[in-house]
Amino acid sequence: MIEVKNLSKTYKMDNGDEIKALDDINFKVKSGEIVGILGMSGSGKTTLLKILRGVESFDSGVILLDDIKVAHDSNPYYFTKLKRATAIHLQRSFGLWAETVFQNVVRKLYGARYGDESMTDQEYAYQEFGDQAMELLKLVGLEHKAQHFAPVLSGGEKQRLIMARQLAKKPKVLLLDEPATMSCPKTKQEILDAIKNINKELGVTVLVVSHLPEIHEYLDD
Ligand SMILES: Nc1ncnc2c1ncn2[C@@H]1O[C@H](COP(=O)(O)OP(=O)(O)OP(=O)(O)O)[C@@H](O)[C@H]1O
Ligand SMILES: [Mg+2]
Repeated sequence: MIEVKNLSKTYKMDNGDEIKALDDINFKVKSGEIVGILGMSGSGKTTLLKILRGVESFDSGVILLDDIKVAHDSNPYYFTKLKRATAIHLQRSFGLWAETVFQNVVRKLYGARYGDESMTDQEYAYQEFGDQAMELLKLVGLEHKAQHFAPVLSGGEKQRLIMARQLAKKPKVLLLDEPATMSCPKTKQEILDAIKNINKELGVTVLVVSHLPEIHEYLDD
């Protein structure tokens, strides 16, 4: 489903310095797999996910996702196709609306269908997407928090709400950057359970980046 061939990326700084973030990376991922990517800080994990998401340039190599093929000099049209097929949660970023958990998901479903979640007509969106929103909240174990105010959720709950929102656009591939690294053991477990559940119930292919080996061990079981 995903194939990365000979992928390389060097960041060029304004002062002329160059940082080689990815050096000839090759791997394949089957449809419906959960794949862990382990690496030290600065080894290029976030860079790789951004490239797979279609939002970061690269110097050489090819990304294949089903029938989508992107090379460094591909037309923006193909990068857009990659963006449509993937969802990402970037490290340490939240970006939730100051409203309920349920509204946050309904809004994302509305945006996925009509293009702009900031324009959501809540009343209409409730009718059309309310059931789907509850299904997504169940998948990540947050149905009991549906009517809570999103900004006061715990870190791990926010993380799971973000995953529910990412799923609203029905991606083929979910890219997660250090989803559970800053959490206590119980929270970590809840996040990892949500990832497994999403993968099992929706068949979404998941790439999880983390520098913590235990996260990969758990997802392997
Ligand atoms: N926008 C950028 N401009 C210049 N250098 C960058 C940029 N983004 C990343 N780098 C550099 O590229 C290398 C890889 O960074 P990246 O963020 O991909 O690592 P990482 O494996 O995700 O690290 P961490 O585990 O700390 O999140 C690092 O040396 C980093 O400093
Ligand atoms: Mg990173």
